[in-house]
Amino acid sequence: MRDSILVTGGAGFIGSNFILRWIETTGSTVVNLDLLTYAGNPANLASLDGNPRYELVQGDIGDSPLVANLLARHRPRAIVHFAAETHVDRSIAAPEAFLRTNVEGSFHLLEQAISYWSLLSPADRDRFRFLHVSTDEVYGSLAPGDPPCSESSPYAPNSPYAASKAASDHFVRAFHHTWGLPVLTTHCSNNYGPFQFPEKLVPLTILNALEGKPLPVYGDGLNVRDWLYVADHCSAIRAVLALGRIGEIYHIGGNSERSNIDVVSAICDTLDEFRPDSSMGSRRKLITFVKDRPGHDRRYAMDARKIATELGWKPEEQFESGLRKTVLWYLEHPEWIESVRTGAYREWIRQNYQERKAL
Ligand code: NAD
Ligand code: TYD
Repeated sequence: MRDSILVTGGAGFIGSNFILRWIETTGSTVVNLDLLTYAGNPANLASLDGNPRYELVQGDIGDSPLVANLLARHRPRAIVHFAAETHVDRSIAAPEAFLRTNVEGSFHLLEQAISYWSLLSPADRDRFRFLHVSTDEVYGSLAPGDPPCSESSPYAPNSPYAASKAASDHFVRAFHHTWGLPVLTTHCSNNYGPFQFPEKLVPLTILNALEGKPLPVYGDGLNVRDWLYVADHCSAIRAVLALGRIGEIYHIGGNSERSNIDVVSAICDTLDEFRPDSSMGSRRKLITFVKDRPGHDRRYAMDARKIATELGWKPEEQFESGLRKTVLWYLEHPEWIESVRTGAYREWIRQNYQERKAL
């Protein structure tokens, strides 16, 4: 086994943030297996071009011969599994890709991981880890006064996305329980930060607000999410990989519950400060309540005490400080924004929002 890791989905939002920091702070090698779907963007990792410790392989996690070959060639000490279809609205419009990648793809990846792991020396078998990156959405919706979800909360996935992530979580658990694969599972709340594809709430709102377009808020805007700056999610994953107990689940949260209307309003105010537009005045006037998402979960919240007490992890950013960093990043990277707004992106925006008439 070598000092290398296999990252899946590393050209996406969280994976690319994770790889950039990993290469910066360790001496080990990263192989990034990414299908480069609409959400995968090699430009996120352009700063690693020519770096001998980084390799991008375009391919599917469900392509077993490819994965077997990569594992045999690179002999990684860990697999960090980010690859997934991730957008809830897309999972409602076209759920099958979620079944294929999140369930079947994860299953085939686990099969290859166990084939590789079982042939390692006993010492290497002890060191190897399969870290599965999951989400708070598998626990379903909380009522306003409910306590945040803990690692033993029952599953209640409500969207096709959540159901597909829940299914992959169960396979990860079963591969550990049945065959002893040394797995770690993390469940994180909503991330925001650099390189997030602008179909998700935070970057979509930043870009629309900059261009004076309507800011679509689903339903009454009072759905609540817990928000975590992406660098904090990445530091939590590093902590779990280094110190987490095999077979355990760790919740990762920002302790920053906000309603959607508060998030969108905060983005408007931050942009008004950084990029005032005297003709527009406050960008809050762009806020437009639109038709709700079917089955829209009311509230997610994570109890992250286990990772804090066991592994000593806590987030560095507050929501307000992380949001300022995020808004600044989008203001400073217009070329990145242009590169991701392809025809396919425009088509999705048209499809998702044309039927969401203002309420
Ligand atoms: P993303 O959509 O930005 O990126 C997903 C990446 O996976 C893309 O690069 C895509 O090309 C790649 N991919 C998709 N299908 C693939 C396949 N079959 N084979 C190989 N690569 C494939 O997603 P993200 O927001 O970075 O999320 C990463 C992980 O973190 C996901 O597993 C997601 O469920 C989880 N997560 C995300 C959040 C969040 O707020 N974004 C919160 C908690 C957990
Ligand atoms: P999203 O970023 O899609 O993440 P998730 O659904 O996985 O939590 O959405 C975050 C919240 O913002 C969610 O409650 C849906 C809402 N939302 C809007 O109100 N308007 C939008 O245009 C989008 C994309 C999301």
